[in-house]
Amino acid sequence: MTGGATHRLPHALWHAASERYRPAGRFAWHFARGKLRHDPAFATVLARGWIRPGSRVLDLGCGQGLLASLLLAVDGLAHAPHWPAHWAPPPQGCRVHGLELMPRDVERAQAALAGHELRARVDQGDIAQAAFGAADVVVLLDVLHYLPHAGQEAVLRRVHDCLAPGGQLVLRIGDHAAGLPFRLSQLVDRIIFRARGHADSSLYCRTADDWAGLLGRHGLEVLPGRVVSGSLFANTLMLARKPGGA
Ligand SMILES: C[S@@+](CC[C@H](N)C(=O)[O-])C[C@H]1O[C@@H](n2cnc3c(N)ncnc32)[C@H](O)[C@@H]1O
Repeated sequence: MTGGATHRLPHALWHAASERYRPAGRFAWHFARGKLRHDPAFATVLARGWIRPGSRVLDLGCGQGLLASLLLAVDGLAHAPHWPAHWAPPPQGCRVHGLELMPRDVERAQAALAGHELRARVDQGDIAQAAFGAADVVVLLDVLHYLPHAGQEAVLRRVHDCLAPGGQLVLRIGDHAAGLPFRLSQLVDRIIFRARGHADSSLYCRTADDWAGLLGRHGLEVLPGRVVSGSLFANTLMLARKPGGA
């Protein structure tokens, strides 16, 4: 990873967040363990304090709700030795609302989060149409490129509208300018998308700079500190902020 230190979740946090998926079945549990262990986005977001304590988090295209599970786990492990001293303060007390298109992912999320619905809820819905509700942080991890360009703009308009002043957008997208790594990540994306049951695996990509420009045109200021995934993939994680607030 460039643009910052490589982050991994502390073992106890990883374990607590993935164990929650046991009632959701073997696939869900293995998937949670693998993704939470190897995808640096989760640890990066926590380490950098991109989600503040007590936030209302809207996770668009949330898959099986891994971020919601992780934020529930943070509440019980927000202290030494589980919380690294050099990380930002733990985002305790967040409430997460996830929206996900695919019913099977929603079922897995709901099985994992059962009993915690007041704090962490996942609903089935198309982010191109579903109501967003008010949020302090919107998360779009590897999702927006599935929507046609006009649909991406419409979602970003509504993201801007639903964010409180000073609210933040955490966005990860593929960088069209990254050459071979980008093409490989697109191929993997398409295979996974088909395997998940989507009928159409078209992708609507842009360069990382184009994405940043698009956010700017929708009233979201991109903050310094983009994180670029390393060796094989060309994903870029960025943080943008709606002006205003404290
Ligand atoms: C690559 S996965 C990422 C999942 C999750 N954000 C994560 O990082 O673990 C992309 C997800 O976006 C969902 N998705 C794609 N288009 C969507 C739409 N229009 N509305 C809701 N979810 C969508 C897919 O079903 C899939 O679960």
